[in-house]
Amino acid sequence: MSDNIFVVTIDGPAGSGKGTLANIIKNKYHFAYLDTGKIYRACGYHLLQQNVDINHHDAIVNVSSHLPMDDLQNPVLMQDNIAQIASIIATIPEVRESLLQCQRNFITEQGETHHGVVLDGRDCGTIIYPHAAVKFFLDADVEKRAIRRFQQLHDNDDNDIQEKILNDLKERDYRDRHRAQAPLKPADDAIIIDSTDLSIDIVVQKACDIIDAARKL
Ligand code: DC
Repeated sequence: MSDNIFVVTIDGPAGSGKGTLANIIKNKYHFAYLDTGKIYRACGYHLLQQNVDINHHDAIVNVSSHLPMDDLQNPVLMQDNIAQIASIIATIPEVRESLLQCQRNFITEQGETHHGVVLDGRDCGTIIYPHAAVKFFLDADVEKRAIRRFQQLHDNDDNDIQEKILNDLKERDYRDRHRAQAPLKPADDAIIIDSTDLSIDIVVQKACDIIDAARKL
């Protein structure tokens, strides 16, 4: 891994606003952007398509090691059932090892042709690129995250759906934070931003001030 690439990592739980912030950073600084969750989701989607049993360890590992990286824009990846499968297979060390290589390759390849690379996910600052120039850990209360996710996905006020989103987030949070390998946690040198009571504009301002300062070093 080259230390010459300017890398910004954004880790945090589902619904904390990582993707929104990463997209703004990508456009403002002309960085390459990798949503690492999409890779886990794509793997989950392929398993579903191939009818692979979620308990069939070897078959899951096999799919993860031959994952095509060309369908990360498929909107089906954003479905909640795919997110749950992604979170389950993300606990398997061999799956993480295969996908880690894809993620590091992206940084090396894209870092050569862009001003920098921004990544978001769960282990970007701790495992994927520990030498990142700037590491953020974006957090927010789970109830607030559930409301945001609900507003993104739905145009009505169905309480059952809101409740389901909240429970799904809690389940994923628990699994992502407590797995043995590469659990969700801030890197020791991460800047923690709690966005529970902050607008996206304030979060962006804080993050960009820190990136601007790091780029001048
Ligand atoms: O960021 P997301 O909601 O799209 O991620 C889906 C799941 O993928 C998440 O619940 C856990 C897993 N994941 C991971 O283990 N490591 C990452 N760097 C990104 C995602």
